[in-house]
Amino acid sequence: MSDFPHTPPRYSATFTPAVNAEIRRAAASGIYDIRGGGTKRHLPHFDDLLFLGASISRYPLEGYREKCATDVWLGTRFAKKPIHLDIPVTIAGMSFGALSGPAKEALGRGASEAGTSTTTGDGGMTEEERGHSRTLVYQYLPSRYGMIPDDLRRADAIEVVVGQGAKPGGGGMLLGQKISDRVANMRNLPKGIDQRSACRHPDWTGPDDLEIKIHELREITDWEKPIYVKIGGARP
Ligand SMILES: Cc1cc2nc3c(=O)[nH]c(=O)nc-3n(C[C@H](O)[C@H](O)[C@H](O)COP(=O)(O)O)c2cc1C
Repeated sequence: MSDFPHTPPRYSATFTPAVNAEIRRAAASGIYDIRGGGTKRHLPHFDDLLFLGASISRYPLEGYREKCATDVWLGTRFAKKPIHLDIPVTIAGMSFGALSGPAKEALGRGASEAGTSTTTGDGGMTEEERGHSRTLVYQYLPSRYGMIPDDLRRADAIEVVVGQGAKPGGGGMLLGQKISDRVANMRNLPKGIDQRSACRHPDWTGPDDLEIKIHELREITDWEKPIYVKIGGARP
């Protein structure tokens, strides 16, 4: 026994003894609950979504005579080419590398059929998703992996990522096993080596710089594309 006084760790509501035990078990065995091919969590169905329109728009004067639609326009204030979606549910940005080319194609086909948009991610734009998405949003990411100005112009809208959605704490890591020749080439980084994606964007330090960056993006794309900002609950 050491002579130093021993302070037991403070009780954490998030990392309970049971959660810690599961983390230690997964670290020791390498077998995680989350695997490829889907989540075990119960996911909501489209029928589970309920939109309370009256609280975000004017009250209808005559409820049953008002037009009731799910379509939405984005970018009507500044963009010469605003986008029109049939439903207000979109496919979030997912990196090429985390997802394969065929997965990107499948998302593009499904989203186009459902009348909504898909989004690129870390690693840049693939031909699969550009070719199969009616409306494709190009992410402008902190990592700048795969950032090509010409692809900004090939997109239908631009999403500036402030804090990664899936990894809001300290950024993300794409494991070396997923860095194939194609993924490595698009990211300008070596094959087979883990790649970090920071969650803080190097191009601005606050909202005033961000405004300048958005202005630059508008100029690069000739004020055609809607530009929006994705804010993850980040703590860099
Ligand atoms: C496989 C995968 C890859 C992702 N890659 C990115 C990415 O490149 N850029 C990004 O902003 N978010 C990325 N995300 C986060 C998603 O865009 C989204 O914010 C997150 O999954 C939370 O939404 P959800 O609850 O609908 O999954 C990724 C998520 C997943 C599951």
